[in-house]
Formats: sequence, C-alpha cells, structure tokens
Amino acid sequence: MNIIESNYAAAANKRMTAERYEHTLAVAESAKEIARTHGVSVQDAEVAGLLHDYARDLSAEELLRIAESDGLIAYEIERRFPVLLHGPVGSWLVRSELGVESQSVLQAIAVHTVGAPGMDKLAKIIYLADLIAAGRTCPIVRKLRLAVKGDLDQAMLLSLAFSIRHMLKRGKMIHPQTFAAWNYFIGRGKPV
Ligand SMILES: [Fe+2]
Repeated sequence: MNIIESNYAAAANKRMTAERYEHTLAVAESAKEIARTHGVSVQDAEVAGLLHDYARDLSAEELLRIAESDGLIAYEIERRFPVLLHGPVGSWLVRSELGVESQSVLQAIAVHTVGAPGMDKLAKIIYLADLIAAGRTCPIVRKLRLAVKGDLDQAMLLSLAFSIRHMLKRGKMIHPQTFAAWNYFIGRGKPV
C-alpha cells in the first residue's frame, strides 16, 4: 500500500468503528482481487474499497443534514431510511475531505449499497466485494465468490435478485435505484 492509500486507510479508520474498519480492509482486499481478474486498476479498487463505508458510522441526523445541504437526496425513501444515504454522503465527503477526484471511485462509493443502472466495472466490483468480503455470511456468498471470477453482470444479477427477494420476503421497502439496476442488467441480455 502506498502513502496515499495509507492516508486513506488512516482517514477511514478515524471515521469508523473497529469492526467497520476491519470490514473495510476485507472489502479492499476482495476488490483488489476481483479488479486483478477483470483488468481494472487495482489501486482504484483498493481506494474505493477502503473508503466505501466512509460515512457509514454517521448518525441518521448527520447523514440527513449533509445530504440536505449538499443536494444529495434523490428519493423519498432516503429520508425515511437515512442509512441509504451513506453511499452518496460518503462519496461527497471523500471528495471534499480527502480530495479524491476519480469519478469512477466516487461513483462506486455512491452506489455501493443500492446499485444503479450503468454501473461501471469498478462500481460493480465494489458492490460485489462488499457482499463477498471475508466475514460476510449471506446465503449466496459462496455462489457469488465463484460468480465474480466470471461475468460481472451475471454476478450483479445474482446479487440484485437475492437482495430484492430478501426485501420482498421481509415486507421491506426497496430503493427504486435497485429496481433500475436490475432492469439495466437484465436488459443487457444476460439473464440469471
Ligand atoms: Fe456501505
């Protein structure tokens, strides 16, 4: 890890609980591995992995306050469940506090929780790394760990299908961007 990345790691460590920071390191590791397989910048993957949950330990009030004042609220569901804002707010904070400029890294951080149509390779990698990193135990984790070695769109469809089903079963609200992501990937002609 170079000096820039270690500064990011220190900044992340400062903003996060110990468990979150441990998760962050695991996501950075997974992201690097997937990036290597798919010919994506390993450094971008590491930075985005380290910083993806930068705003995750902010309170709901703080997330809402920052999102309101910086125009980051896109859907009503985000006011009801401010935790959904930790991606967009984290992306905004790493640009303003840490000077991260890469649009791809910023976008990957912004959409890592709910997904989005048009996700680039790095965004897919961070979304997936978050689910399969060491310590994750979701029921499809083994399937996903294999899937990320192949087609990333296919892996996205698997994980979006899982998360939509999971929310439906529990009678929970679903972020419209998650449906939009599903429609986008299914529309690319690679059904599950
Ligand atoms: Fe997150």
